[in-house]
Amino acid sequence: MLRWPCAALREADLSARTTIRVGGRAEWLLEPSHPDEFVAAWNAARERGFEPRVLGGGANLIVADGVLRGVVITTERMGRVFRVHPEYDGREGEEFAPLLPALVPLERDAPARLVAWAGCSLPGLVRVTRDLGWSGFEALAGVPGHLGGGIAMNAGGRSGETWDVVESVRVLTPGGELRQLARAQCSPRYRDGALGGAIVLGAVLHFRVDERAAVKERVADYLRQKSATQPVTERSSGCVFKNPDRELSGGRSAGALVEAAGAKGLARGDAHVSGKHGNFIVNRGAARAQDVLDLIEEVRARVADRTGIRLENEVQVWSE
Ligand code: EPU
Repeated sequence: MLRWPCAALREADLSARTTIRVGGRAEWLLEPSHPDEFVAAWNAARERGFEPRVLGGGANLIVADGVLRGVVITTERMGRVFRVHPEYDGREGEEFAPLLPALVPLERDAPARLVAWAGCSLPGLVRVTRDLGWSGFEALAGVPGHLGGGIAMNAGGRSGETWDVVESVRVLTPGGELRQLARAQCSPRYRDGALGGAIVLGAVLHFRVDERAAVKERVADYLRQKSATQPVTERSSGCVFKNPDRELSGGRSAGALVEAAGAKGLARGDAHVSGKHGNFIVNRGAARAQDVLDLIEEVRARVADRTGIRLENEVQVWSE
């Protein structure tokens, strides 16, 4: 039996750790509860010849059926938020150490900054900042998942994205080096944090102090818009495809193209293209990952056939 430098589960079910609830198990699931433990787990896996995968909130992920060989490291237990110490200057290499734990209630006054580990839930951060009257994360209202994944893929919507509030990000580079990257050193793009394969361990986030009522109203407004246009009460992985280049598509979004191609309502087993929003596939019961993956290919082919546009996945797929 292999021993790991953190909590570890063998043949752990991953479907319950994704929002669409499909897929199989991981041979090993490691659950570090601190960024240092994450690095130790990462190194231990690499030393044993595994190329670990990182699981955040599973909100944008489809895991294939069966057993996924190798090691998955989850940020589930790395959900802490800290105040930024007044003397912290964010220099590269600076530790996250001079920070006070979240047990000290966050105060509303400027500087409106906090340090959050990768496993913080995005909805949790939206709530915390809303209650403080800190502005910057309203457009993330209703976006599921963890901060690490949100930064890695620059999650967001048309009114804002995760990187809008990132002051610096703590990463583990593919070479196994820890780095603190300032915002100016990064070039996030649409749905891509562009971190070159580096793994996000945490970040310093910077907000703007605003009227509590105004922030609250904007959050409520985004939630209303979302539930009016997206199947928010059903199991899904969010938008399946990226919106194509506007010039190519004549400004039509992926959802609009799916609808135009007559693909809304297509189904494989319990996997259905949502009738509410064409860019969502929902699991209406006991869908298998293969149903979802087949349906994605069917929709992609149909859209390509009818419109000449080949949609690219926004969702990540883990298979052997
Ligand atoms: N539309 C249709 N049919 C559909 C769906 C949409 O005609 O079935 C039309 C809408 O009427 C609208 C346009 O397409 O005119 C755009 O739709 P929407 O406003 O729903 O936005 P979106 O571009 O489809 C993007 C993000 C969402 C984010 C929303 C809101 C992508 C791929 N999607 O959706 O992000 O929540 O804006 O800000 O960038 C996600 O990333 O998982 C996600 C859901």
